[in-house]
Amino acid sequence: MSIPPLSVAPMLDRTDRHYRYFMRLISKHTLLYTEMVTCQSIVHGDRERLLGYDDVEHPVSLQLGGDDPKLLAECAKLAEDLGYDEVNMNVGCPSSRVQSGNFGACLMAQPEVVARGCEAMMAAVDIPVTVKHRIGIDDIDQYENMANFVEVVSQVGVKRFTVHARKAWLQGLSPKENRNVPPLRYNEVYRLKEDFPHLDIEINGGIKTMTETKEHLQKVDAVMIGRAAYDNPWQFVHADAMFFDDHHDLPTREEVAEKMLIYIEEQLQKGVRMMSITRHILGLYAHQPGSRKWRRALGEASSRKHADPQRVRELLLTPDLSR
Ligand SMILES: Cc1cc2nc3c(=O)[nH]c(=O)nc-3n(C[C@H](O)[C@H](O)[C@H](O)COP(=O)(O)O)c2cc1C
Repeated sequence: MSIPPLSVAPMLDRTDRHYRYFMRLISKHTLLYTEMVTCQSIVHGDRERLLGYDDVEHPVSLQLGGDDPKLLAECAKLAEDLGYDEVNMNVGCPSSRVQSGNFGACLMAQPEVVARGCEAMMAAVDIPVTVKHRIGIDDIDQYENMANFVEVVSQVGVKRFTVHARKAWLQGLSPKENRNVPPLRYNEVYRLKEDFPHLDIEINGGIKTMTETKEHLQKVDAVMIGRAAYDNPWQFVHADAMFFDDHHDLPTREEVAEKMLIYIEEQLQKGVRMMSITRHILGLYAHQPGSRKWRRALGEASSRKHADPQRVRELLLTPDLSR
């Protein structure tokens, strides 16, 4: 796979298969990530629920959480066999649950562990093995610490690094605060690209628009967008032309909504709850006049208690955006 210059970040409870299906109707080429899936859950859990995806989602990367090379390799192999385009290792999540399993952001302090994990995965698969990490953690937060981390991990052959451009505090801040409180340090990500020109460096954190994406791409190879992709998905309709040189006809929001309706009807037959899908579409009209009213109406019409498929249908096919 050539390096996609734009991706949607892995986000727990957000970038599930229904969201990814929806995003793929908006951009054909943007790389999509799964939520983080832990190796332990893959080994012991319901694989179809954890790893199942639709063929239309390609290119799609599976993000793994773990630190045991054997388990990581086993899960990476499974991902490859299932057709995932990439496997990504999570070295950015600061939650206490993840720390207690010794994976996520705390591995910034253990580059050797990340290197061994990636080495094992690379020996097991042919698809790219990539790493998503932070600028630093706690008092291991100097540029040199991050550069050393990337140096050690790249020595086993990892070529693509996604850097969430802020440090994480492992104690005292919640995961949410760790996405907002530590300041963004884009310059250190740019410097990483200068110091490691042979690696693909992707920048992440606080990037909200396609225009900002274009600016970052002057300095790094790729941009990853998280919250702004969830809250305002429609802006990705311009991504294929702007970043992937594919100037196909753009779909309209109504066309995407119509396709989602077909998808919803298929999924309802399989026992999926309406809200599990519609909750990801609530941002379709973000920043448009009347979008709040539409969002509220769609939320209400698909809520578990008062689900009203006919009303959902109307809202998707003939949205009334008058305020
Ligand atoms: C609700 C939520 C869940 C997240 N879950 C994950 C995750 O599973 N794996 C991961 O590497 N990062 C996770 N992140 C962090 C994002 O991938 C991203 O690094 C962070 O939100 C900063 O990018 P943004 O400012 O564009 O949102 C999550 C973020 C949010 C908001």
